[in-house]
Amino acid sequence: MAGSRIRRIAISTGGGDAPGLNAVIRAAVIAARNRDWEVAGIRDGYNGLLNPKDYPDGGLIDLHRHNVRGITHLGGTILGTTNKGNPLRYPTKGRGGKWYEKDRSGELVAAFRKRKIDALVAIGGDGSLAIADALAGKGLRVVGVPKTIDNDLEKTVATFGFDSAVSFATECLDRLHSTAEAHRRVMVVEVMGRYAGWIALNAGVSGTADAILIPEIPYDIRKVAGKIMSMESIDKHFGIVVVAEGAKPKDGGYSVVSRELGRADKLGGAGERVAKALETLTGKECRTVVLGHLQRGGSPTTFDRLLSLRFGAAAVRALDEGRSGVMVALDPPKVRYVPLKEVSGRMKTVPLDCDTVLTARTLGISFGD
Ligand code: F6P
Repeated sequence: MAGSRIRRIAISTGGGDAPGLNAVIRAAVIAARNRDWEVAGIRDGYNGLLNPKDYPDGGLIDLHRHNVRGITHLGGTILGTTNKGNPLRYPTKGRGGKWYEKDRSGELVAAFRKRKIDALVAIGGDGSLAIADALAGKGLRVVGVPKTIDNDLEKTVATFGFDSAVSFATECLDRLHSTAEAHRRVMVVEVMGRYAGWIALNAGVSGTADAILIPEIPYDIRKVAGKIMSMESIDKHFGIVVVAEGAKPKDGGYSVVSRELGRADKLGGAGERVAKALETLTGKECRTVVLGHLQRGGSPTTFDRLLSLRFGAAAVRALDEGRSGVMVALDPPKVRYVPLKEVSGRMKTVPLDCDTVLTARTLGISFGD
Protein backbone atom coordinates (compact mmCIF):
# COMPACT_ATOMS: atom_id res chain seq x y z
CA MET A 1 0.00 0.00 0.00
CA ALA A 2 2.79 2.42 0.91
CA GLY A 3 3.93 4.69 -1.93
CA SER A 4 0.97 4.23 -4.29
CA ARG A 5 -1.39 7.08 -5.13
CA ILE A 6 -4.10 7.80 -2.58
CA ARG A 7 -7.67 7.48 -3.88
CA ARG A 8 -9.55 6.73 -0.71
CA ILE A 9 -8.84 7.36 2.96
CA ALA A 10 -10.62 6.31 6.13
CA ILE A 11 -11.09 8.15 9.40
CA SER A 12 -11.53 6.44 12.76
CA THR A 13 -12.26 7.83 16.21
CA GLY A 14 -11.22 5.58 19.09
CA GLY A 15 -11.28 5.52 22.90
CA GLY A 16 -13.21 7.98 25.07
CA ASP A 17 -14.76 10.86 23.14
CA ALA A 18 -13.44 14.41 23.54
CA PRO A 19 -14.78 17.80 22.42
CA GLY A 20 -13.26 18.56 19.03
CA LEU A 21 -13.54 15.13 17.38
CA ASN A 22 -16.14 16.34 14.89
CA ALA A 23 -14.04 19.40 14.04
CA VAL A 24 -11.08 17.13 13.17
CA ILE A 25 -13.36 14.96 11.02
CA ARG A 26 -14.73 17.99 9.18
CA ALA A 27 -11.31 19.45 8.43
CA ALA A 28 -9.93 16.10 7.26
CA VAL A 29 -12.94 15.43 5.01
CA ILE A 30 -12.79 18.86 3.36
CA ALA A 31 -9.01 18.66 2.90
CA ALA A 32 -9.31 15.17 1.39
CA ARG A 33 -12.23 16.02 -0.89
CA ASN A 34 -10.28 19.06 -2.14
CA ARG A 35 -7.69 16.52 -3.33
CA ASP A 36 -10.37 14.40 -4.99
CA TRP A 37 -9.91 11.64 -2.46
CA GLU A 38 -12.86 9.62 -1.27
CA VAL A 39 -13.38 9.46 2.47
CA ALA A 40 -14.90 6.65 4.53
CA GLY A 41 -15.72 7.04 8.20
CA ILE A 42 -15.27 3.81 10.16
CA ARG A 43 -18.01 3.20 12.69
CA ASP A 44 -17.16 2.76 16.38
CA GLY A 45 -13.37 2.77 16.32
CA TYR A 46 -12.45 -0.16 14.08
CA ASN A 47 -15.59 -2.20 14.74
CA GLY A 48 -17.08 -1.09 11.42
CA LEU A 49 -14.27 -2.91 9.62
CA LEU A 50 -13.84 -5.82 12.04
CA ASN A 51 -17.55 -6.63 12.34
CA PRO A 52 -19.16 -5.14 9.18
CA LYS A 53 -22.17 -7.47 9.43
CA ASP A 54 -23.21 -5.76 12.66
CA TYR A 55 -23.95 -2.60 10.69
CA PRO A 56 -26.74 -2.08 8.09
CA ASP A 57 -24.35 0.18 6.10
CA GLY A 58 -21.47 -2.31 6.25
CA GLY A 59 -19.65 -0.36 8.96
CA LEU A 60 -18.44 2.52 6.77
CA ILE A 61 -20.01 5.93 6.20
CA ASP A 62 -19.26 7.77 2.95
CA LEU A 63 -18.15 11.20 4.07
CA HIS A 64 -18.79 14.20 1.83
CA ARG A 65 -18.81 17.91 2.47
CA HIS A 66 -22.55 17.84 3.09
CA ASN A 67 -22.42 15.31 5.94
CA VAL A 68 -19.71 17.21 7.82
CA ARG A 69 -21.50 20.55 7.49
CA GLY A 70 -22.42 22.22 10.80
CA ILE A 71 -20.58 19.76 13.07
CA THR A 72 -17.51 21.81 14.09
CA HIS A 73 -19.09 22.94 17.36
CA LEU A 74 -20.67 19.61 18.30
CA GLY A 75 -19.37 17.32 21.05
CA GLY A 76 -19.17 13.55 20.58
CA THR A 77 -18.28 11.98 17.23
CA ILE A 78 -20.52 11.38 14.22
CA LEU A 79 -18.63 8.10 13.67
CA GLY A 80 -19.16 6.63 17.13
CA THR A 81 -16.31 5.35 19.26
CA THR A 82 -15.47 2.56 21.66
CA ASN A 83 -12.87 1.78 24.26
CA LYS A 84 -13.59 -1.95 24.11
CA GLY A 85 -12.54 -2.63 20.52
CA ASN A 86 -8.72 -2.67 20.60
CA PRO A 87 -7.83 -4.86 17.58
CA LEU A 88 -4.53 -5.81 19.25
CA ARG A 89 -6.40 -7.15 22.30
CA TYR A 90 -9.89 -7.84 21.01
CA PRO A 91 -12.16 -9.48 23.62
CA THR A 92 -13.16 -12.79 22.02
CA LYS A 93 -15.28 -15.67 23.30
CA GLY A 94 -13.39 -18.93 23.15
CA ARG A 95 -14.55 -22.53 23.24
CA GLY A 96 -16.35 -23.22 26.49
CA GLY A 97 -17.55 -19.58 26.64
CA LYS A 98 -14.34 -18.24 28.22
CA TRP A 99 -13.28 -14.75 27.09
CA TYR A 100 -9.72 -14.07 25.96
CA GLU A 101 -7.83 -11.28 24.13
CA LYS A 102 -7.07 -11.89 20.46
CA ASP A 103 -4.77 -9.92 18.11
CA ARG A 104 -7.00 -9.04 15.13
CA SER A 105 -4.66 -6.42 13.60
CA GLY A 106 -3.72 -8.63 10.61
CA GLU A 107 -7.40 -9.15 9.88
CA LEU A 108 -7.95 -5.40 10.17
CA VAL A 109 -5.22 -4.53 7.67
CA ALA A 110 -6.74 -7.09 5.26
CA ALA A 111 -10.13 -5.39 5.74
CA PHE A 112 -8.60 -2.02 4.79
CA ARG A 113 -7.29 -3.60 1.58
CA LYS A 114 -10.58 -5.35 0.82
CA ARG A 115 -12.54 -2.10 1.23
CA LYS A 116 -10.00 -0.30 -1.01
CA ILE A 117 -8.78 2.10 1.66
CA ASP A 118 -5.29 3.43 0.92
CA ALA A 119 -4.62 5.40 4.11
CA LEU A 120 -5.99 6.11 7.57
CA VAL A 121 -6.41 9.16 9.78
CA ALA A 122 -6.55 7.66 13.28
CA ILE A 123 -7.90 10.06 15.88
CA GLY A 124 -7.34 8.87 19.42
CA GLY A 125 -5.47 8.77 22.70
CA ASP A 126 -2.65 6.53 23.91
CA GLY A 127 -4.44 3.25 23.13
CA SER A 128 -5.61 4.33 19.68
CA LEU A 129 -2.21 5.72 18.73
CA ALA A 130 -0.51 2.47 19.78
CA ILE A 131 -2.95 0.67 17.46
CA ALA A 132 -2.15 3.21 14.70
CA ASP A 133 1.55 2.53 15.20
CA ALA A 134 0.98 -1.23 14.93
CA LEU A 135 -1.07 -0.79 11.74
CA ALA A 136 1.68 1.40 10.24
CA GLY A 137 4.12 -1.41 11.13
CA LYS A 138 1.99 -3.77 9.05
CA GLY A 139 2.27 -1.53 5.97
CA LEU A 140 -0.86 0.64 6.25
CA ARG A 141 -0.37 4.37 5.62
CA VAL A 142 -1.41 6.03 8.85
CA VAL A 143 -1.37 9.50 10.38
CA GLY A 144 -2.44 9.89 14.02
CA VAL A 145 -4.23 12.84 15.63
CA PRO A 146 -3.80 13.29 19.40
CA LYS A 147 -7.11 13.38 21.23
CA THR A 148 -7.80 13.20 24.95
CA ILE A 149 -9.22 15.37 27.67
CA ASP A 150 -6.42 13.93 29.87
CA ASN A 151 -3.60 15.73 27.96
CA ASP A 152 -1.33 12.79 28.76
CA LEU A 153 0.24 12.30 25.32
CA GLU A 154 3.93 12.87 24.71
CA LYS A 155 5.42 15.11 21.99
CA THR A 156 2.52 17.52 21.70
CA VAL A 157 2.09 20.63 23.82
CA ALA A 158 -1.63 19.91 23.96
CA THR A 159 -4.18 17.35 22.89
CA PHE A 160 -7.55 18.59 21.71
CA GLY A 161 -10.34 18.18 24.26
CA PHE A 162 -8.16 19.13 27.22
CA ASP A 163 -8.92 22.85 27.15
CA SER A 164 -12.68 22.17 27.01
CA ALA A 165 -12.51 19.79 29.99
CA VAL A 166 -10.40 22.23 32.03
CA SER A 167 -12.69 25.16 31.20
CA PHE A 168 -15.73 23.17 32.30
CA ALA A 169 -14.08 21.99 35.53
CA THR A 170 -12.98 25.55 36.31
CA GLU A 171 -16.51 26.85 35.86
CA CYS A 172 -17.74 24.14 38.24
CA LEU A 173 -15.19 25.22 40.86
CA ASP A 174 -16.36 28.82 40.50
CA ARG A 175 -19.93 27.70 41.15
CA LEU A 176 -18.98 25.58 44.14
CA HIS A 177 -17.22 28.43 45.98
CA SER A 178 -20.40 30.27 46.94
CA THR A 179 -22.31 27.23 48.17
CA ALA A 180 -19.25 25.95 50.07
CA GLU A 181 -18.89 29.33 51.78
CA ALA A 182 -22.60 29.61 52.55
CA HIS A 183 -22.58 26.25 54.36
CA ARG A 184 -19.02 26.36 55.72
CA ARG A 185 -18.35 23.09 53.96
CA VAL A 186 -15.37 21.51 52.28
CA MET A 187 -16.26 20.60 48.70
CA VAL A 188 -14.13 17.80 47.32
CA VAL A 189 -14.27 17.81 43.53
CA GLU A 190 -13.14 14.70 41.65
CA VAL A 191 -12.01 15.27 38.08
CA MET A 192 -10.93 12.90 35.30
CA GLY A 193 -7.42 12.52 33.88
CA ARG A 194 -6.52 8.87 34.49
CA TYR A 195 -2.93 8.58 35.75
CA ALA A 196 -2.02 12.22 34.96
CA GLY A 197 -3.00 15.30 36.96
CA TRP A 198 -3.29 17.86 34.15
CA ILE A 199 -7.02 18.55 34.47
CA ALA A 200 -6.86 18.72 38.28
CA LEU A 201 -3.82 20.99 38.24
CA ASN A 202 -4.96 23.47 35.60
CA ALA A 203 -8.57 23.68 36.79
CA GLY A 204 -7.50 23.69 40.44
CA VAL A 205 -5.14 26.64 40.03
CA SER A 206 -7.53 28.57 37.75
CA GLY A 207 -10.47 27.85 40.06
CA THR A 208 -8.45 28.88 43.15
CA ALA A 209 -8.65 25.58 45.01
CA ASP A 210 -7.10 25.25 48.47
CA ALA A 211 -5.63 21.83 47.74
CA ILE A 212 -5.01 19.85 44.57
CA LEU A 213 -4.26 16.15 44.71
CA ILE A 214 -2.67 14.63 41.63
CA PRO A 215 -1.28 11.16 40.81
CA GLU A 216 2.23 12.56 40.40
CA ILE A 217 2.36 13.68 44.05
CA PRO A 218 1.10 10.97 46.45
CA TYR A 219 -0.60 12.80 49.31
CA ASP A 220 -0.59 12.69 53.09
CA ILE A 221 -4.20 13.40 54.09
CA ARG A 222 -3.05 14.95 57.38
CA LYS A 223 -1.24 17.66 55.37
CA VAL A 224 -4.44 18.41 53.46
CA ALA A 225 -6.42 18.55 56.72
CA GLY A 226 -3.74 20.86 58.15
CA LYS A 227 -4.20 23.23 55.20
CA ILE A 228 -8.00 23.29 55.66
CA MET A 229 -7.69 23.95 59.40
CA SER A 230 -5.02 26.64 58.91
CA MET A 231 -7.52 28.71 56.93
CA GLU A 232 -9.61 29.23 60.07
CA SER A 233 -7.00 31.76 61.25
CA ILE A 234 -7.72 33.95 58.21
CA ASP A 235 -11.45 33.68 58.84
CA LYS A 236 -12.02 31.31 55.94
CA HIS A 237 -14.37 28.54 57.03
CA PHE A 238 -14.86 26.62 53.80
CA GLY A 239 -12.58 24.80 51.42
CA ILE A 240 -12.26 23.56 47.86
CA VAL A 241 -10.19 20.43 47.27
CA VAL A 242 -9.64 19.15 43.73
CA VAL A 243 -8.85 15.45 43.48
CA ALA A 244 -7.68 13.80 40.27
CA GLU A 245 -9.34 10.40 39.80
CA GLY A 246 -5.82 8.91 39.78
CA ALA A 247 -4.71 10.59 43.02
CA LYS A 248 -3.43 8.21 45.67
CA PRO A 249 -2.28 8.46 49.27
CA LYS A 250 1.39 7.94 50.12
CA ASP A 251 0.53 4.62 51.71
CA GLY A 252 -2.13 3.45 49.27
CA GLY A 253 -3.01 2.71 45.66
CA TYR A 254 -5.33 3.98 42.94
CA SER A 255 -9.08 3.95 43.49
CA VAL A 256 -10.15 1.30 40.96
CA VAL A 257 -13.86 0.58 40.46
CA SER A 258 -13.56 -2.35 38.07
CA ARG A 259 -11.24 -4.30 35.81
CA GLU A 260 -12.48 -5.71 32.50
CA LEU A 261 -10.86 -7.68 29.71
CA GLY A 262 -9.79 -5.59 26.73
CA ARG A 263 -10.12 -2.17 28.36
CA ALA A 264 -8.32 0.10 30.82
CA ASP A 265 -9.20 -0.07 34.53
CA LYS A 266 -12.21 2.04 35.49
CA LEU A 267 -11.14 4.61 38.11
CA GLY A 268 -13.48 6.19 40.64
CA GLY A 269 -13.91 6.93 44.32
CA ALA A 270 -10.73 8.95 44.86
CA GLY A 271 -12.74 12.03 45.84
CA GLU A 272 -15.00 10.19 48.28
CA ARG A 273 -11.96 8.58 49.92
CA VAL A 274 -10.44 12.03 50.50
CA ALA A 275 -13.74 13.54 51.71
CA LYS A 276 -14.31 10.79 54.30
CA ALA A 277 -10.81 11.08 55.71
CA LEU A 278 -10.93 14.90 55.75
CA GLU A 279 -14.25 14.91 57.58
CA THR A 280 -12.79 12.69 60.29
CA LEU A 281 -9.62 14.78 60.62
CA THR A 282 -11.14 18.27 60.45
CA GLY A 283 -14.64 17.74 61.91
CA LYS A 284 -15.96 19.84 59.02
CA GLU A 285 -18.73 18.66 56.74
CA CYS A 286 -17.07 17.42 53.53
CA ARG A 287 -19.12 16.79 50.39
CA THR A 288 -18.00 15.14 47.17
CA VAL A 289 -18.84 16.23 43.62
CA VAL A 290 -17.76 13.94 40.79
CA LEU A 291 -17.62 15.84 37.50
CA GLY A 292 -17.27 12.60 35.51
CA HIS A 293 -18.40 12.51 31.90
CA LEU A 294 -19.70 16.08 32.01
CA GLN A 295 -16.06 16.96 31.32
CA ARG A 296 -16.25 15.14 27.98
CA GLY A 297 -19.56 16.53 26.76
CA GLY A 298 -20.64 19.77 25.16
CA SER A 299 -19.03 22.04 22.61
CA PRO A 300 -15.27 22.38 22.25
CA THR A 301 -13.82 25.70 23.38
CA THR A 302 -12.51 28.04 20.70
CA PHE A 303 -8.98 26.84 21.47
CA ASP A 304 -9.98 23.20 20.97
CA ARG A 305 -12.00 23.90 17.82
CA LEU A 306 -9.13 25.68 16.19
CA LEU A 307 -6.63 23.04 17.30
CA SER A 308 -8.89 20.27 16.00
CA LEU A 309 -9.35 21.94 12.63
CA ARG A 310 -5.59 22.51 12.39
CA PHE A 311 -4.89 18.88 13.30
CA GLY A 312 -7.43 17.49 10.80
CA ALA A 313 -6.08 19.62 7.96
CA ALA A 314 -2.45 18.81 8.86
CA ALA A 315 -3.18 15.06 8.96
CA VAL A 316 -4.37 15.13 5.34
CA ARG A 317 -1.44 17.32 4.27
CA ALA A 318 0.87 14.76 5.89
CA LEU A 319 -0.65 11.90 3.87
CA ASP A 320 -0.43 14.01 0.72
CA GLU A 321 3.27 14.63 1.40
CA GLY A 322 3.79 10.86 1.59
CA ARG A 323 4.19 10.66 5.36
CA SER A 324 3.10 7.68 7.40
CA GLY A 325 3.60 6.38 10.93
CA VAL A 326 3.50 9.92 12.29
CA MET A 327 1.26 11.93 14.60
CA VAL A 328 0.39 15.59 14.15
CA ALA A 329 1.57 17.55 17.18
CA LEU A 330 1.20 21.09 18.50
CA ASP A 331 4.55 22.83 18.81
CA PRO A 332 3.51 26.51 18.92
CA PRO A 333 3.24 28.30 16.63
CA LYS A 334 3.53 25.24 14.41
CA VAL A 335 1.87 21.91 13.93
CA ARG A 336 4.57 19.38 13.20
CA TYR A 337 4.85 15.64 12.67
CA VAL A 338 6.41 13.25 15.18
CA PRO A 339 6.94 9.49 14.78
CA LEU A 340 4.12 7.46 16.36
CA LYS A 341 6.88 5.33 17.89
CA GLU A 342 7.89 8.29 20.07
CA VAL A 343 4.35 8.61 21.40
CA SER A 344 2.87 5.16 21.76
CA GLY A 345 3.35 3.36 25.04
CA ARG A 346 4.46 6.56 26.82
CA MET A 347 2.60 8.90 29.11
CA LYS A 348 3.09 12.63 29.66
CA THR A 349 2.60 13.26 33.34
CA VAL A 350 2.84 16.60 35.16
CA PRO A 351 6.51 17.53 35.71
CA LEU A 352 6.92 18.39 39.38
CA ASP A 353 9.01 21.46 38.56
CA CYS A 354 6.67 22.89 35.92
CA ASP A 355 5.61 26.49 36.23
CA THR A 356 1.97 25.72 37.05
CA VAL A 357 3.02 23.55 40.01
CA LEU A 358 5.41 26.31 41.13
CA THR A 359 2.63 28.88 40.77
CA ALA A 360 0.30 26.74 42.88
CA ARG A 361 2.92 26.40 45.59
CA THR A 362 3.63 30.16 45.46
CA LEU A 363 -0.06 30.82 45.98
CA GLY A 364 -0.18 28.50 48.99
CA ILE A 365 -2.17 25.71 47.37
CA SER A 366 -1.44 22.37 49.08
CA PHE A 367 -0.55 19.22 47.16
CA GLY A 368 -0.75 17.21 50.39
CA ASP A 369 3.02 16.66 50.40
O1 F6P B 1 -9.29 9.08 28.82
C1 F6P B 1 -10.41 9.88 28.95
C2 F6P B 1 -11.23 9.47 30.16
O2 F6P B 1 -12.33 10.35 30.24
C3 F6P B 1 -10.46 9.41 31.46
O3 F6P B 1 -10.23 10.67 32.01
C4 F6P B 1 -11.35 8.51 32.28
O4 F6P B 1 -10.63 7.80 33.27
C5 F6P B 1 -11.86 7.55 31.26
O5 F6P B 1 -11.74 8.16 30.00
C6 F6P B 1 -13.29 7.13 31.49
O6 F6P B 1 -13.63 6.21 30.52
P1 F6P B 1 -15.10 5.63 30.37
O7 F6P B 1 -15.87 6.59 29.51
O8 F6P B 1 -14.90 4.34 29.72
O9 F6P B 1 -15.70 5.53 31.73
